[in-house]
Amino acid sequence: MTWTTEKRYRRYEDWTKEECQNIKETIASSPWRATYHVEPETGLLNDPNGFSYFDGKWVVFYQNFPFGAAHGLKSWVQLESEDLVHFTPTGVKVLPDTDLDSHGAYSGSAMQFGDKLFLFYTGNVRDENWIRHPYQIGALLDKQGNLTKIDKVLIEQPEEATDHFRDPQIFTYHDQYYTIVGGQTKDKKGYIKLYKAVDNDYSNWEVVGDLNFENDNTAYMMECPNLVFIDEQPVLLYCPQGLAKDVYQYDNIYPNMYKIGQSFDTDSATMVNPGPLLNLDYGFECYATQAFNAPDGRALAVSWLGLPDVEYPSDRFNHQGTFSLVKELTLKDGKLYQYPVAAITDLRSHKEELADKCQTNNTYELELEIPANEQTELILFADQDGKGLQVLFDTENGLVSLDRSQAGEQYALDFGTKRTCPIDNQSINVNIFIDKSVFELFINKGEKVFSGRVFPNQDQTGILLKQGNPTGHYYELEYGRKTN
Ligand code: FRU
Repeated sequence: MTWTTEKRYRRYEDWTKEECQNIKETIASSPWRATYHVEPETGLLNDPNGFSYFDGKWVVFYQNFPFGAAHGLKSWVQLESEDLVHFTPTGVKVLPDTDLDSHGAYSGSAMQFGDKLFLFYTGNVRDENWIRHPYQIGALLDKQGNLTKIDKVLIEQPEEATDHFRDPQIFTYHDQYYTIVGGQTKDKKGYIKLYKAVDNDYSNWEVVGDLNFENDNTAYMMECPNLVFIDEQPVLLYCPQGLAKDVYQYDNIYPNMYKIGQSFDTDSATMVNPGPLLNLDYGFECYATQAFNAPDGRALAVSWLGLPDVEYPSDRFNHQGTFSLVKELTLKDGKLYQYPVAAITDLRSHKEELADKCQTNNTYELELEIPANEQTELILFADQDGKGLQVLFDTENGLVSLDRSQAGEQYALDFGTKRTCPIDNQSINVNIFIDKSVFELFINKGEKVFSGRVFPNQDQTGILLKQGNPTGHYYELEYGRKTN
């Protein structure tokens, strides 16, 4: 299917029943649908949006183009959860159906006000000359699932910004509501702008200033900025598109980075003493991570395991993109850790000692101890010839590397098939989550993370311990509903 602009932006109501039915049938025949990761019902999933807590439940929306694996006319699709592991669609959507969001309900966030959930997002509008107008707009969701859009622009495109100005994140700091928005200045530099809610009114925003976080000024656009607080320290997560490789060496088409500050000075819009710019994830896919401080104070995050401008083998089955597991963010000795929420262990069913396995259903977790001073090599998604996803733990030289060149159908080859990250020369523990075509690997309970996709061939279902002496367990994972 060729995705012309006409097709990408065709109105939702103009897709015929047959076309929608065909899309569903193709998806049903896909060998790569995940089981315990959030995926789009149909089409493309990209950013997590509106991650929040409302009416006693966790809420997240996925951004979606429902008619195929393409970036077209976007909407939000709501999911809710009681444990941050099992997610159920509610039927609520934010559709691109007004003059302020006619060409896409783009990314944003959510916060409870009174008995409503306020959604703050970017309305993407193209005029008759296809010129883009980004509007920061809102909607209110009540407890019965009725969504009412607020019929005015809440934040206008600032004078110094181009039409790339989007992805508002609302947060509280010392009982005051703020929002940051990602953008591009007219001299093509990525930046982040901080706003304050006048009298804490979500529909009345005033500029505080450009966020000062010692921006290296090499990116041309900052997408999806998020500020969370962990033990009072600000952590800024963002996607600096075009970041110079001499500032930070990264492999993916676009990186998802972060900085940890010492404190936050709201008057001067400053993240005080920001630490170095660091990579959130060393794998092949991780973008648009959305994080927020839950009412209990925890910083929770979920990422899009996909990247803009990349084609995936699953595209021909009309689906693209998954979410990561929900990760809790913590700081230990000044370092950021990201690890799935505790309830993830509820998925564990059958347990075995770690050993080679010819056949799994590619839906499992490995919990491993890797000794010091050793080369440990595992092949996941292994076929009979031992070809699959190669995972190498080198605790002698302090390096972990992943190579997916033998793991099924190849894609995004321009960005390489191997990813590495440095570790300390010590024994490590590792948790690896495998889900059909998704992997998430956590070193030392989230000190370093590798996430990504592989699209295995039919016979790539094994686990091979090729080198070294790792010990640990294999757990089959089952997404069955909890009954309590
Ligand atoms: C990031 C992003 C956001 C935007 C959305 C549009 O992946 O480009 O900046 O709001 O996706 O789909």
